[in-house]
Amino acid sequence: MDKLKYALIGAGGNAEYKHIQGYKQLHDIEVVAICDIDGSKAAAMAARHNVPNAYDDYRDMIETERPDIVSVVTPNFLHAEITEYALLHGVNVHCEKPLSIHAEEAKRVVAAKNRSGKQVMIGLNNRFTNEAVYLKKWIDDGKLGDIYSAKAGWVRRSGIPGSGTWFTDRARSGGGVLIDLGSHYIDLALYLMGMPQVAYAAGRIHRNFMQNGTRNRHGYIGNENGVFNVEDAAHGYLGLENGASLALDFSWAANIEEERFYVELMGTEGGASLVNGTLKLFGEHNGVCLDLTPKLNLNPYLQLTGEFRHFVDCVRDADQRLIAPAEHGLYFAEIVDAFYESARTGFPAALAERNLFSR
Ligand SMILES: NC(=O)c1ccc[n+]([C@@H]2O[C@H](COP(=O)([O-])OP(=O)(O)OC[C@H]3O[C@@H](n4cnc5c(N)ncnc54)[C@H](O)[C@@H]3O)[C@@H](O)[C@H]2O)c1
Repeated sequence: MDKLKYALIGAGGNAEYKHIQGYKQLHDIEVVAICDIDGSKAAAMAARHNVPNAYDDYRDMIETERPDIVSVVTPNFLHAEITEYALLHGVNVHCEKPLSIHAEEAKRVVAAKNRSGKQVMIGLNNRFTNEAVYLKKWIDDGKLGDIYSAKAGWVRRSGIPGSGTWFTDRARSGGGVLIDLGSHYIDLALYLMGMPQVAYAAGRIHRNFMQNGTRNRHGYIGNENGVFNVEDAAHGYLGLENGASLALDFSWAANIEEERFYVELMGTEGGASLVNGTLKLFGEHNGVCLDLTPKLNLNPYLQLTGEFRHFVDCVRDADQRLIAPAEHGLYFAEIVDAFYESARTGFPAALAERNLFSR
């Protein structure tokens, strides 16, 4: 089988710990180049991973290397612009979450994707864990019945990803914890529920820990001269058109006992929770309320490569159904826009548009 040429844009933390680790495991991928606006960072990462070429400009890299696939792993505000550029130059894009910082930009990406005939997948790794894959099948088999209520959250006690870095600067991040951690767990809840239509968002945001360097996430270095103009907590509620509700609970920093990331789903036939990676299933059997804790036989290789293998397979065969398509990134951007609108006005905000994509 011919190898596909792969290149990486943005040589920061997530590129190092996720994208390069995943793609270099795949036998049918050749990693040809790494780009970072800081060329020395790109060169150092290329040297660490035996990648032959390093660039400081993604346009040069795409024009010179002509990759089949790029990962976009830059600060959020560049995702849509770089993804659109790559698509229009014939490249498939694995874009980190969120797809964009506003719905308008995400719409341009979806339009560029449709014009180009290329593929865009969002880096929603929480959809690809063994537990989430199993739970999705369980739900699709009807085991929960109708899901009428759900909760999703990621609450950290000390988890600001670098106070004063691009993460806390709205112009570069698009927002705080809602867009950073919400892009994983709001997404996961909606995905598991079958991407139901959100009617409105009702949300409140808070910023209470911006002065407090002790609330940085372990290993993340802040910049005391940097900007911090985003929320460190977001709590709220999505009302769904089908009558169901989704309660939301997110914090980078809060006075709570410990970190918790979770989705809880309540259905007419059963329930499920996925809390800090542990899956539990709830129901009734023979007149008894029954809890199941499935012991999934983890295959470490599949866990490491699942998201990357899936995208390469979809690039090779356009008839495969992409698990995390650009349209879902647009949908998330519309939810975030409505949530922030609600936080600004103090009242629920209707979603700007109905999303007619296939779910
Ligand atoms: N899926 C996940 O679990 C997960 C985890 C962490 C981060 N992320 C996402 O990954 C992205 C990157 O986060 P990070 O933690 O790696 O940030 P980071 O700051 O460590 O890395 C970003 C890199 O992008 C580079 N960059 C900036 N402008 C550029 C440009 N024009 N061209 C090329 N490179 C450029 C920076 O120099 C930096 O090296 C973010 O969008 C974040 O939301 C996802």
